[in-house]
Amino acid sequence: MSSTAARSSATASAPAAPPERSAAAAAAVAPGAGGHAPDVGPPTTRGLVVIGPGASFGAELLRRYGREGFALGVVSRSADTLSRVRDELAPAGLAVAGAVADVTDAPALTRAVEQLSAEIGGLTVCVYNAKLSIRGAALTVSPATLNQTLAVNITGALAAIQAAVGPLEERPAATILVTSASPRTQPVAGRFTLAVGKAGLAALAEALRPTLAARGIRLRTVVLDGRVAPTGPLRPEAVADHFWQAFAAPRGDMFRLAPARRDTSVAQLPLEV
Ligand SMILES: NC(=O)c1ccc[n+]([C@@H]2O[C@H](COP(=O)([O-])OP(=O)(O)OC[C@H]3O[C@@H](n4cnc5c(N)ncnc54)[C@H](OP(=O)(O)O)[C@@H]3O)[C@@H](O)[C@H]2O)c1
Repeated sequence: MSSTAARSSATASAPAAPPERSAAAAAAVAPGAGGHAPDVGPPTTRGLVVIGPGASFGAELLRRYGREGFALGVVSRSADTLSRVRDELAPAGLAVAGAVADVTDAPALTRAVEQLSAEIGGLTVCVYNAKLSIRGAALTVSPATLNQTLAVNITGALAAIQAAVGPLEERPAATILVTSASPRTQPVAGRFTLAVGKAGLAALAEALRPTLAARGIRLRTVVLDGRVAPTGPLRPEAVADHFWQAFAAPRGDMFRLAPARRDTSVAQLPLEV
């Protein structure tokens, strides 16, 4: 395995999820032709909304779902981010519906998610990818700074999930993905607030999962266990594909992507090698 390959794993403890419909299958559920009455069935379009696309892999993630036939939407804090994402996806012929909202403004975030869901023809997947990292060490960072980051890293996620429930309900394979990170790759030194925020986000997802499952919505945690950069250790395309697998997998709660280890000892190699 090359040093740039990545290992992805899923932890499955949830009950089996409803069967997925591929883009092709979705396209096949077209209104009836030849005089037959159209099926009164599931909606024919699938839509993705990414909240806080970020600079590292947001455009790749949107492109990956766009390739699967998803209609795309982005909630961003600034119009600049929206323009950047649109510019990156235009060469691939992918249009992106956009709304500007701060995730710490819950009413504005709710309006944005509802507006985009309608614009893209219905919501199937919502990704909460926003994060705020303010550097500071555990014993010197101010509690106010921690609160400021938690408002984005945890409370914003709750607001986003609450906003997405309405548009997601009754949609086939309705899924919320939250982006987390392994504490190992976000060293406590200097990144204390982010480490606390991501741990809280994982706990939030854990606590919400059963409630959402009862409403037919899957809540999955995507853990990126390494830095994302074009040169690795986690490459944007691999991360984007991991986000696709985290949606497409029939079951599982936690989807972890880690860089491949180069120092695998002989004792750890599979027996057939
Ligand atoms: N990059 C990595 O190596 C790495 C590794 C592990 C996990 N992750 C996770 O992957 C995700 C994306 O990472 P990234 O490196 O691409 O991060 P990033 O470039 O810092 O992007 C964070 C996103 O959050 C948005 N955001 C922050 N505060 C907001 C607010 N108050 N309201 C609305 N949006 C807000 C930012 O908006 P603006 O565009 O307007 O700034 C940006 O789009 C994060 O959750 C991160 O923790 C990243």
